[in-house]
Amino acid sequence: MAESRDTGAPGGRKDPFWNSVASFGMDDIFVLPEWISELKGEKTASVTVEESGSIPLELAALMQRVGDCRGCRLSEERNTIVFGGGNPSAGILFIGEGPGANEDIQGEPFVGRAGKLLDKILAAIDLDRDTVFITNIVKCRPPGNRTPSKDEVAACWWILEEQIRIMQPGVIVALGAPASRTMTGSSDGIGKLRGTIHRYGDIPVLPTYHPAALLRTDALKRPVWDDMKTLRKLLDELGLPRAGKD
Ligand code: URA
Repeated sequence: MAESRDTGAPGGRKDPFWNSVASFGMDDIFVLPEWISELKGEKTASVTVEESGSIPLELAALMQRVGDCRGCRLSEERNTIVFGGGNPSAGILFIGEGPGANEDIQGEPFVGRAGKLLDKILAAIDLDRDTVFITNIVKCRPPGNRTPSKDEVAACWWILEEQIRIMQPGVIVALGAPASRTMTGSSDGIGKLRGTIHRYGDIPVLPTYHPAALLRTDALKRPVWDDMKTLRKLLDELGLPRAGKD
């Protein structure tokens, strides 16, 4: 986590989440909510993050709670906790599996080859990183990019659960089997889970193949395109992405 503090917000990041946090004029987002209020010249004692109603500030407070998490063995080899990135207020949440080598260094999700393909998939349905938020079921890189184990996913679940509670997305897209199983509670394979709209509470969940799988298997592009058309239709029905950046 220290690494992402040093290299990140608001310094060099282009990410809208970081930019909106940076707009509060802080050099370091890892501060207490009351410090933020102080910086904004507000009364400190009576203002809580919840009362602020600000998604970026609530997420910043969550990151502070996560701190230098040592909740599972993934913390032993990680360089950076990859919390997520994009627009947390847009109402569209993409969830991947876990950071890879590039993400572990840069502190942002989907910045490698799979991420470049994800950008193209988003662009095909008129979305981009300003209109979605992207995170993973585990926030630390599994060594060698292995699939995270059930206990690692369970140890990290509270963070994703909190992110969803704070962002209240209108739609969740689960990328690949581990994210799709985690979000649907099913043990079915991705081939079976995709093509149906599931629910996480009231929130529609669309499972689809992971972009990394598309890099290996061309034949998966067609079903993903079908899933993205379903997503586009759902977004239009729900009026997403939400306007404004909080
Ligand atoms: N694959 C994922 O599932 N997540 C990332 O952030 C990068 C690659």
